[in-house]
Formats: sequence, structure tokens, C-alpha cells
Amino acid sequence: MSKKVKIAPSILSADFSHLAYDIAQVEAAGADQIHIDVMDGHFVPNISMGPIVVTAVRKSTRLPLDVHLMISDPLRYIEAFAKAGADALTIHLEADSPVSQTIQAIHSYGLKAGIAINPATPAKALQAILPEVDIILIMTVNPGFGGQVFIDGSVSKISTIYEMVVEANLTVDIAVDGGINNQTTLAAVAAGANVVVAGNAIFRSPMGAQAAVKTLRESILAR
Ligand code: DX5
Ligand code: ZN
Repeated sequence: MSKKVKIAPSILSADFSHLAYDIAQVEAAGADQIHIDVMDGHFVPNISMGPIVVTAVRKSTRLPLDVHLMISDPLRYIEAFAKAGADALTIHLEADSPVSQTIQAIHSYGLKAGIAINPATPAKALQAILPEVDIILIMTVNPGFGGQVFIDGSVSKISTIYEMVVEANLTVDIAVDGGINNQTTLAAVAAGANVVVAGNAIFRSPMGAQAAVKTLRESILAR
């Protein structure tokens, strides 16, 4: 029996002049968690948001907050994001902080801990950290911006990571992030992903965010 697929709208593509409204739309449509992209202008070329936005989002929704840290030194900011109300913190394997120590710091606040990998990082680089994490976030675009195109080679990488997880008999979420739409969702889910992060396909959809989440859910259920 496969796990329920969770939909995680990425607010990077929302309209920040009415963020609470946009979040309410996806919550009403049955989104499972809110994905918050933190970028420091150093690990990635873009700068986005920090703990004060997480604090504001925490007041706007009951959904779990899944915070994706695209920052060079995540260890330095774990406490701030925990206090802001994050439920899960995902760091990058390619960041500068010691990975295992940072995962332990996240767990010390009672949060779920995730590890993200960039498209250029091979699946086998995850092997050592796999037993310590709750979430594996597979980047299916190069991180930094919303609205990019899903990298096709990602599908075989998702399958490889799924097999590694099954082989090690672990219970982890396998999330995909970047270029996710109705079609790429089906390919990612078929390969073993159980969390789909989507920004533009939801918040920039011509049908509106609420209908976009429902349509994505229907295509997952009809697969
Ligand atoms: C990219 C971010 C993604 C981004 C996805 O660096 O990590 O979460 O918001 O946006 P779309 O779904 O538009 O590719
Ligand atoms: Zn993200």
C-alpha cells in the first residue's frame, strides 16, 4: 500500500501583499503543509525570507510549516526558525554546516529534520545521513528561483533514492521540489516521491490556487 501523497504549496510564488489570503486558499483546498523557501543570497543567488515571515505564516494557518533552508550556515539559525514556529527544517547536504550536528540540533527542538540535495549531487551522497533524517528533499531544479523547468533526469534519481530508503527499511518522506505540475507530479510519484512541493503551478495558476490544489489532488488520486 503506497503512502498518501502530500501536497506542499511553496509560498515563494504567492502574492506577499496578501499572503494570509493565499495560504487560506490552499488550506481550504486540502493542502497538507506549507513550504517556505529561505534563501540567503550566498548559498543560492536569490534572497527571500527569514524567521519573521515564518512567525507571520504560523499565525495564518494550522498546517505544518515545512521550511527549506537554502542557506550556507543553517546551524546558526536553527533556534530562530524553531522559535518562529517551523514544524520541519530541511538543510542542504551541500551547505557548510556539519550535517549530522545540524540534524541533531533540529531534532533537539522537537522538529522534523530534512536533508535536501541539488540536481548535481548524486543519490549515493545521502547514504550516511539517511538513517538520521525524517525527510529527503530532492531538488528537481537548481535551487534559487520558482518557475523553472523540472529536470528530466530527476526521475531516475528519485527511483534510486526510493530504493535506498526501502533497502534501509526507513520511514521517511521523499519530497520533490522544482518544476512540479500535474504531469511531473505523476512521474515523481510513480518513481517513489510522497511529497510534492509546488509554487508556480499553484499560486500562479490561471484557475486560482484553490482550484489548482484540487486539480493536482485529483490527478494524483486518478493515477
Ligand atoms: C526553488 C524552491 C522551490 C520553488 C518551487 O529553489 O526551493 O520550492 O518555490 O517553485 P516552482 O514549483 O515554481 O518550481
Ligand atoms: Zn523549496
